[in-house]
Amino acid sequence: MNVRSMRVEDLLGMQACNLQNLPENYTMKYYMYHAMSWPSISFVAEDHKGRIVGYILAKMDEETPEGEETQGHVTSISVLRSYRRLGLAKKLMVQSQEAMAQIYRASYVSLHVRKSNRAALSLYKDTLGFTVKDIEKGYYADGEDAYAMRLALK
Ligand code: ACO
Repeated sequence: MNVRSMRVEDLLGMQACNLQNLPENYTMKYYMYHAMSWPSISFVAEDHKGRIVGYILAKMDEETPEGEETQGHVTSISVLRSYRRLGLAKKLMVQSQEAMAQIYRASYVSLHVRKSNRAALSLYKDTLGFTVKDIEKGYYADGEDAYAMRLALK
């Protein structure tokens, strides 16, 4: 499995992967917005045939007030079921975090995750060292709460 920077021609594969894995789905316009605005902080994992089996879709915070620290944000990450527990999500996260820090001088990366999402919580907390900054009540469309999580980037 190969992890590499996202290209515009990957967007349909990323969207297909997202539709299989998560109830939070996005229009192609929103994928395109990420690709056009911050092309170097989103990544894909592909199999030997070049099929997208995982992705991370990331953006930079556009509302950082002057003088405040820049922050990156993970919009969405997922890996197809039969490719899980191979370290792909960790690789996608680390590569995106490195790009945020190097290219945009980001001090932090943030994300939202469902309180019930044990696999993702373990990835963020135990593997990557994120901490819970806040609980956002009813953040998701079905009313579930989100943990707002954050990690300082070196
Ligand atoms: N149960 C417990 N811990 C887990 C699990 C699991 N099922 N899966 C991953 N982890 C943790 C472990 O600590 C693991 O390390 P280990 O394998 O050494 O024990 C660590 O995360 C790294 O695992 P990876 O293999 O890198 O993770 P994977 O490639 O399997 O992807 C992911 C994890 C993205 C959460 C995957 O399960 C998935 O696609 N789930 C559905 C979509 C999803 O929930 N996405 C996150 C939503 S939040 C957001 O997008 C910001």
